[in-house]
Amino acid sequence: MTTTESTSYKGLQSVIWAGEQLDLLDQRLLPEEIVYLPLVNAQDVWEAIRHLKVRGAPAIGIAAAYGVVLGSRDASDRNAWMAAVKEAAAHLATSRPTAVNLFWALDRMTARAEALAAGGSDLAACKEALLQEAITIQSEDEETNRLIGEHALTLFQDGMGVLTHCNAGGLATAKYGTALAPFYLALEQGIKLRVFADETRPVLQGARLTAFELQQAGVDVTLICDNMAGMVMSKGWVDAVIVGTDRVAANGDVANKIGTYSVAVLAKAHGIPFYVACPLSTIDLNTPSGAEIPIEERHAEEITEGFGKRTAPVGVKVFNPAFDVTPNDYVTAIITEKGIVKPPYDVNLKKLFEING
Ligand code: MRU
Repeated sequence: MTTTESTSYKGLQSVIWAGEQLDLLDQRLLPEEIVYLPLVNAQDVWEAIRHLKVRGAPAIGIAAAYGVVLGSRDASDRNAWMAAVKEAAAHLATSRPTAVNLFWALDRMTARAEALAAGGSDLAACKEALLQEAITIQSEDEETNRLIGEHALTLFQDGMGVLTHCNAGGLATAKYGTALAPFYLALEQGIKLRVFADETRPVLQGARLTAFELQQAGVDVTLICDNMAGMVMSKGWVDAVIVGTDRVAANGDVANKIGTYSVAVLAKAHGIPFYVACPLSTIDLNTPSGAEIPIEERHAEEITEGFGKRTAPVGVKVFNPAFDVTPNDYVTAIITEKGIVKPPYDVNLKKLFEING
């Protein structure tokens, strides 16, 4: 890949390899506090993923890759090292179920370790090469997102209003984000876009993270409650929707933050294109359709005590799925680092991998 480094992107980096430890931006505390947590073992990384200190599909995968490094670095011989790699990967795979980037990164790290162990390098060289693999996963993500942004920006024109849901920005990735990448590129190129950010109940990734990172960058962003999207669309203020995703099934069904499906239905009702931006590592050809994507359910307290105080009666029944599935016929196009994919997705997603190996 041959893209250039952005000069204008000044966003916070969510995952930083600091030589001996992983420094992880605690995204639960944003936007009020900027705190980096030192993570020193695989269990620290598992907890960070499970409790949303790091979140967003690509960032979860990156953190997990470093988790494998941390979980295996104390092994004293090659067999023990390989066993520790596998154990850390298996454990990290239980942290969250929906974002396929987690499993993609863990599989890649395990395969690399197996190749290194079989290759006969000494233990120190194996450990160093495995760390380099994690660093490569992170740097590739940065390049990938810039390319996604370039492709996505071809769909937008100066003066357009674009609505997004959840946070698929720099905080959710190595840099730039997926769905938010075109907004940063638009800034660099003097293209004026008006962004509407859904607050994204129950954990408020849109309000706390998307509004924060876009505002910090100087993007024209307006925060709305989730239930305002229809009204804003009916006023004609939204020309396109763009979201990220945690997993795209082989038929083009898209799992993303809860509420995405409602936005897609609203977009269709208003004749507004609905775009999904993601790297190839989020496309899971082994999952035939959205029906097979595991959907995480989270604690009731995210809904009943989400604002730091009780907002619902004690003991009330709660349903709290973290993601929903948008059927492929609501998806106008899927924007990847390799280009823009249009329906029929069952044919065209497969082609994308055939062309690119
Ligand atoms: O629960 P989260 O915050 O991890 O959910 C994140 C999302 O749904 C994002 O939209 C998705 O991971 C894409 S991030 C580039």
